[in-house]
Amino acid sequence: MCGIIGYIGQKKISPILINGLKKLEYRGYDSAGICVLENGGLTIIKKTGRIEELAKSPELKNVNGAIGIAHTRWATHGEPNEQNAHPHLDCEQKIAIVHNGIIENYQALRELLIKEGHKISSETDSEVLAHLIEKFYKGDLLKAVKETLALVDGAYGMAVIHKDQDKIVVARKGSPLIIGVGEGEMFVASDVPAILEHTKKVIYLNDDEIAVIGQNDYQITNLAGEKLDNKIEEIKWSVEQMEKKGYKHFMLKEIFEQPESISNTLRGRIKDGKIKLSIDFDIKEIKKIVITACGTSWHSALIGKYLLESIAEISTEVDYASEFRYRQPIVTKNDLAIVISQSGETADTLAALREAKQRGAKSLGIINVVGSTISREVDSGIYLHAGPEIGVASTKAFTSQVVALLLLTLYIRQEKGIALDKELLEDLADIPEKIDQALHRAEEVKEIAQKFKDIKNFLYLGRGLNFPVALEGALKLKEISYIHAEGYPAAEIKHGPIALIDENMPVVFIATKNSLSEKIISNMEEVKARQGVVIALVSDSDERIEKIADYIIKVPEVRNELSAIVNSIPLQLLAYYIADLRGLDVDKPRNLAKSVTVE
Ligand code: F6R
Repeated sequence: MCGIIGYIGQKKISPILINGLKKLEYRGYDSAGICVLENGGLTIIKKTGRIEELAKSPELKNVNGAIGIAHTRWATHGEPNEQNAHPHLDCEQKIAIVHNGIIENYQALRELLIKEGHKISSETDSEVLAHLIEKFYKGDLLKAVKETLALVDGAYGMAVIHKDQDKIVVARKGSPLIIGVGEGEMFVASDVPAILEHTKKVIYLNDDEIAVIGQNDYQITNLAGEKLDNKIEEIKWSVEQMEKKGYKHFMLKEIFEQPESISNTLRGRIKDGKIKLSIDFDIKEIKKIVITACGTSWHSALIGKYLLESIAEISTEVDYASEFRYRQPIVTKNDLAIVISQSGETADTLAALREAKQRGAKSLGIINVVGSTISREVDSGIYLHAGPEIGVASTKAFTSQVVALLLLTLYIRQEKGIALDKELLEDLADIPEKIDQALHRAEEVKEIAQKFKDIKNFLYLGRGLNFPVALEGALKLKEISYIHAEGYPAAEIKHGPIALIDENMPVVFIATKNSLSEKIISNMEEVKARQGVVIALVSDSDERIEKIADYIIKVPEVRNELSAIVNSIPLQLLAYYIADLRGLDVDKPRNLAKSVTVE
């Protein structure tokens, strides 16, 4: 986690660093700091809390230098306070570093440094980097950084400056880092939004690469010192795409963008009754699929399993990436490992991908962020093209993931020579329109949110494809409203959770029409018989459930294979409105970060 930005050039430096940090706040936001080289020394300002606290600090106005680095932190070692905030300095305050990642052997390094007389002033793992560079520095910053990295186990995206050097040295292993190329100025950052208002030209650093950045040039090498020629890529996203466009929160904007984001996921991929995907290996030879992901992306994976098994007729397992990576999974060269990740940077998902590849599996990524680490390590991929997702709670990326999984499912079926259902293709192409209709009912969902905003617990129930939808609905609610919510397969409540049912435990049933409708109605009756309060998500044309449920949310009727996409919309809205009515910071819920680059 954590966000890094660095600048070298002639413009006023503090707004560049502060605005860059603001764009990276989604990566963590418990403290922040900057360090600028000015008047032959390092000026450092750090604050606990949001970037706004740092932006307000009066000292910032006087900062004036040509080289600087800055950091927004998401604590892993040591509580969020000024001492633990980055940048960190060496003993003589000549060297400053910002770091994203975890130094796993920092305790041993710390003890060694203390024995050698270094005074370590924070509880972080990162500070040892500044002291190790100090230990090795003999006038060559690059050399000192390399010698430091040789001792370090763990993950890092880091930027380093020295008071006597007009350059920034950056290095990457396991945590993302890009170089931004400007006119007479250069940038470094954890992610593109931080520098997009200044340049669209970026270079992605790979693991074990190190770069020396001057005002007009840069040189990238590997750890062995060999020069590398990473290509400059042109970013297509606009600054405007990154902004809220008049919505109160990014999350609301992103919910309402779904007709467009899904159209973008579909664009060019259904043509003349066929699915067009560029997959570089022979997918019909695959015997088994294993999908790994985390959080919301794991929920889309569960939906993918239903689709892949029923439509593509291929055995599919789904695992949390964090579990997969540490068990002894049975994955062979005949299998396909699919990794799903909005950010393309989630540490556990990346590790699961590497584990599966090492076991010989082919790999395929379903990723939103172009150029992200996972997207570069998979054998083949399907980009979501959902556009930047800034709200910490994933919404549009989730529905695009489900669409991408459905496209993949249909593609596998097609490649196996089994006929595709033409109507399903047409209905899939129409799904943005159905989403639009579902969004038109936002006000009705808001009224229900108003009634339930002070409730302490919720249960979400669904069956079949709608079980993962229930899990996702519950996750959305808990992460942004801090209300306890659980998702369950509806039939399972008899085996325990039904004991919780009373008038204070609203139950959200995802009960749109499908072959299990009768069964879910029985589950609803069971809840009603115990004085439970039922909020039911039902198909437009369904009048039966209106007689049983206390509250009804109607969604446009779609075939079962597409229902997870449409049904997710009101659940996202319900979570959003409840959190907003409770006065919470919807886009930046406590303790969370958008991109989880530590395990
Ligand atoms: C929840 C949410 C998280 C992410 C998870 C994986 O709304 O956003 O649960 O889904 O951290 O992130 P990615 O998809 O970037 O790998």
